[in-house]
Amino acid sequence: MSDGTANRWDADDYDDGHGFVAEYGASLVDLLDPKSGERVLDLGCGTGHLTADIAERGATAVGIDQSAEMVEQARAAYPGLSFRRADARSFTAEDRFDAVFSNAALHWVPGADHDAVIEAVADALRPGGRFVAEMGGTGNVDRIVTATLAELRERGYDRENPWYFPSVGEYATRLEAGGFEVRRAVLFDRPTELENGADGLADWLSMFGDSLFAGLADDEREAVVAGVEDRLRPDMFDGETWTADYRRLRFVAVRAA
Ligand code: BEZ
Repeated sequence: MSDGTANRWDADDYDDGHGFVAEYGASLVDLLDPKSGERVLDLGCGTGHLTADIAERGATAVGIDQSAEMVEQARAAYPGLSFRRADARSFTAEDRFDAVFSNAALHWVPGADHDAVIEAVADALRPGGRFVAEMGGTGNVDRIVTATLAELRERGYDRENPWYFPSVGEYATRLEAGGFEVRRAVLFDRPTELENGADGLADWLSMFGDSLFAGLADDEREAVVAGVEDRLRPDMFDGETWTADYRRLRFVAVRAA
């Protein structure tokens, strides 16, 4: 999912070089456990692969994403499913859903806006409906963020972490304040091998880190990325593959009756 302003997505690149996002998401679909006849909303559906997995299990699945490019690609890949462009903070649903599902999307929404997200999700669910999601949790990609901000700072650019990675306590509290009962919430490390060998980290930064490099000339940007690689190579590159320090926050929350 994109926040629509900070990052311009290349939906082809997203699928080709970062397929692990949907692969890891498959186990979140297991946690969702969609049932035949249920209506499920996939919030931040990206290119729609998990929306399709949910539909294959017999549910009626609808995907929404902020990125027009992602929605276009999802529609082309899965013409039988319904996808539309919508903002996680303000979407509305004509008919209530049995579940709202979200994988690797919520951390793109600024922290200050998550009460609005939670309110929109609660409004979209029937009483007793479930919100099943995974996002970056506290400390997610901390080494990559720290190295990138340090490299930028050395070159005179003062930037901030563009993502929201909450702790279990923080997000569970927000969910409860928004009318949810939190049935499960867990933070765990998931070291993630990046695709494309020696270019894996540079590709990851290019795909996801656009906002960090806003306003930099191409050669300056390349120099920053090379500097980040130098800082992280000893700990994160084994000679063949980069491994990113992902940490996930997963939760299941049920809308109060
Ligand atoms: C994540 O899935 O944890 C993630 C993806 C892109 C940027 C930051 C975090």
